[in-house]
Amino acid sequence: MQYKTIHVEASRVYDILIGRGILATLGTLVRPLLGDCRLAVLTDSNVDVLYGNAIMDSLQAAGYNTCKFVIPAGEQSKCAGNLLAFLDFMASEQLTRKDAVIAFGGGVVGDLGGLSASLYLRGVKYIHVPTTLLAAVDSSVGGKTAIDIPAGKNLVGSFYQPSMVCCDTALMDSLPADIYRDGCAEVIKYGMILDKELYSTLHTLPFDREAVVARCVEIKRDVVQQDEYDNGLRGLLNFGHTFGHAIEKLSNFGVSHGEAVAKGMVIAARIAPLCGLCDVADELSALLVKYGFDIGCEYTATQVYEALLTDKKRRGGDITVVLPKAVGQCILHTMPVEELETLLSQVI
Ligand code: GLY
Repeated sequence: MQYKTIHVEASRVYDILIGRGILATLGTLVRPLLGDCRLAVLTDSNVDVLYGNAIMDSLQAAGYNTCKFVIPAGEQSKCAGNLLAFLDFMASEQLTRKDAVIAFGGGVVGDLGGLSASLYLRGVKYIHVPTTLLAAVDSSVGGKTAIDIPAGKNLVGSFYQPSMVCCDTALMDSLPADIYRDGCAEVIKYGMILDKELYSTLHTLPFDREAVVARCVEIKRDVVQQDEYDNGLRGLLNFGHTFGHAIEKLSNFGVSHGEAVAKGMVIAARIAPLCGLCDVADELSALLVKYGFDIGCEYTATQVYEALLTDKKRRGGDITVVLPKAVGQCILHTMPVEELETLLSQVI
């Protein structure tokens, strides 16, 4: 089995394995790390139908005693109710501290599985097996775990690194086009923030999925190793997200994360020249349109401004936004929130 290994040295040292068809060997790949233990697989109803048997077969063929907990697919599942239900499930299955969680799914399953693993018995190991492009390049890497609460998305969580990430890019073949495209927005983000060469390769469609996922993971790994707890540099990964989250919220999550990030990146790119930085807005917009994104913003500047005031990145009266300095080079730019209101009114 051919796969690429990306080594991460954060508060936990672990490998991210990326390969087409790697799921079939998951059981043998985790054995050196986990030894003999029970594995609780957390997945969602969509992934379970498509690949539930494949993962259980892979783990059981390697001699693992497994149990499985399936949550309904969708963001609404990333909630306190499912967190408690999964913790309760692990307790009822009598999982001990030497046992582990396998989070098999997209961002919802990964975030919920990671948080559950960080809490159960004060911490058991967990392995991410991302099934979406978005989770493969973003949420499965770097140890952010979370659930949503009524006050907002991802407001309760922890930093808790996995023991391994195993990314089978073949699983993405079955993703609906709009879900796959959501991941493409994050891929374009990586090119724009830190890698001009990656950005250039994205003009040729379809891109080489294994190579692109691996490069995005390397970029995120490099950032996380320098700022695991999100006190500075890691903020670069939020390019397009401050405005994107505001748009997602305004649409009551009718606009998907990727679509919202695409719109948010364009807003940030339009603001950049007003702050004395270069203007890459047309270039970025053209690439996003090529991927099928609607980059228009259907909300007013005031609506976007008011929605982003609750952003986690806000510190007192200041807010930090990520702005492009050039293709492949973004910077963190801190300004008074009122200044951002003026800037937004000039670009929306
Ligand atoms: N998704 C942004 C981060 O992991 O920091």
